[in-house]
Amino acid sequence: MELKGSSYCSSFPDNFLFGTASSSYQFEGDILADGKGLSNWDNFTHSSGNILDGSNGDIAVDHYHLYLEDIDLMEKLSVNSFRFSISWARILPKGRFGNVNMAGIDHCSKCIDALLRKGIQPFVTLTHYDVPQELEERYGAWLSPKIRIDFQYYADICFKFLGNRVKYWVTFNEPNVVAIRGYRSGIYPPSRCSRSYGNCSKGNSEKEPLIAAHNMILCHAAAVNVYRTKYQKEQKGRIGIVMNSVWYEPFSNSSEDKLAAERAQSFYMNWFLDPIMFGKYPEEMHRLLGPLLPVFSKKDLECMSNSLDFIGINHYTSFYSKDCMYSYCESGAAGVIKSEGYALRTAIRNGALIGEPTEIDWLYVYPQGMEKIVTYIKDRYNNTPMFITENGVGTTSYIRNDVKRVEYMSSYLDSLATAIRKGADVRGYFAWALLDNFEWIYGFTIRFGLYHVDFHTLKRTPRLSAAWYKEFIETSKSIQTS
Ligand code: BGC
Ligand code: BGC
Repeated sequence: MELKGSSYCSSFPDNFLFGTASSSYQFEGDILADGKGLSNWDNFTHSSGNILDGSNGDIAVDHYHLYLEDIDLMEKLSVNSFRFSISWARILPKGRFGNVNMAGIDHCSKCIDALLRKGIQPFVTLTHYDVPQELEERYGAWLSPKIRIDFQYYADICFKFLGNRVKYWVTFNEPNVVAIRGYRSGIYPPSRCSRSYGNCSKGNSEKEPLIAAHNMILCHAAAVNVYRTKYQKEQKGRIGIVMNSVWYEPFSNSSEDKLAAERAQSFYMNWFLDPIMFGKYPEEMHRLLGPLLPVFSKKDLECMSNSLDFIGINHYTSFYSKDCMYSYCESGAAGVIKSEGYALRTAIRNGALIGEPTEIDWLYVYPQGMEKIVTYIKDRYNNTPMFITENGVGTTSYIRNDVKRVEYMSSYLDSLATAIRKGADVRGYFAWALLDNFEWIYGFTIRFGLYHVDFHTLKRTPRLSAAWYKEFIETSKSIQTS
């Protein structure tokens, strides 16, 4: 088949990072190796009924042992960066209440060195959904302000031992997803929600997501502060946060629906980015949530505003957004509650889907959404440098000749190139994912890899998309240097 997309490559600036992404729980396995402690996800996957196929990340795709082989695959792909996360419980099995596990640090060190030997920049996340279970048990993890002391301590250790070789740090992967799924719907650990919101034995879906989010924002700011005051000058890296992003297309041209789409962004993404950039929650949140919204103290604010160097954007899909503040929406539908800004989220309008459906129920192909979300973030946050830290599509079936994935990536990269041509400061793109892996509550039933993984033998086999991505990157680099 013809490999589309190469004609747009010249839009990617010099030094653009092309990479693939991963996370420790989804990739590494060996959950007790070398003194690692248990995380909230180890705990969660081991209680029955939480994961669709009853599986867990005990072995995942064994990247813990196969990392050198995997780095060889990356070299073959011609990528110049790899996004991965550190398992907090591997470094601090009991948080600050126990020892630093030097074997865990050693392992990360070796991975970083192996990447650098191949000219691949490590792009490192401190937490990708996981926290040491110890902290959950001691004080409820993100629900307690105490977590800030732990997170700052953990971040400091990572900068201290690894920061001389890492130029890109991410504090959190998708804190919005952690807050919503952990504390509103309760489908992720710590499985907390109110009765009418899900199947949890405890929690408060209206209050707790806001508290958890507030503490995560403070943790982020604390880690950035440590980096800026103790390490950045010497280590010369940059630090940011990664948000899950959805593009919300107004359901109609009415000003009500346009405002609803704005509210949807504010209650999902700006919820975190506004405080981090401007020191306050979005206006719409204040108006609708009033006293439910936690308050930043004067002292908090001192270390908050502008507390990042780049914004990481995970972007997969788009939805329509329809007003429910002035018009009636059926209760129970996605987005219609106050905590989500009274903005109905739907993929269907007048009987037509927003984009081609995929085998993943929440993922529709809407490449324009890439340009739109990037432009939205550029405008709202003064063109702060951005990275697309995840983009990709999954399949439930066993496909090697993944033409649909190639079309998806090619069209989203094309749309990204348009945003860059129009002035967006985007500095990298990471495909999710290098390999098929453990897809959270879907276990091993969904495959996002450029490489197929046989989950029994763990053998990696390139899909068509791997060959396509390689060619895309090589063409792009040759245009840049010619
Ligand atoms: C996925 C996210 C996605 C979101 C869209 C979730 O299930 O994990 O990556 O962007 O749904 O609503
Ligand atoms: C998460 C990944 C996940 C991907 C696909 C993202 O939201 O960061 O961990 O595998 O979506 O659902």
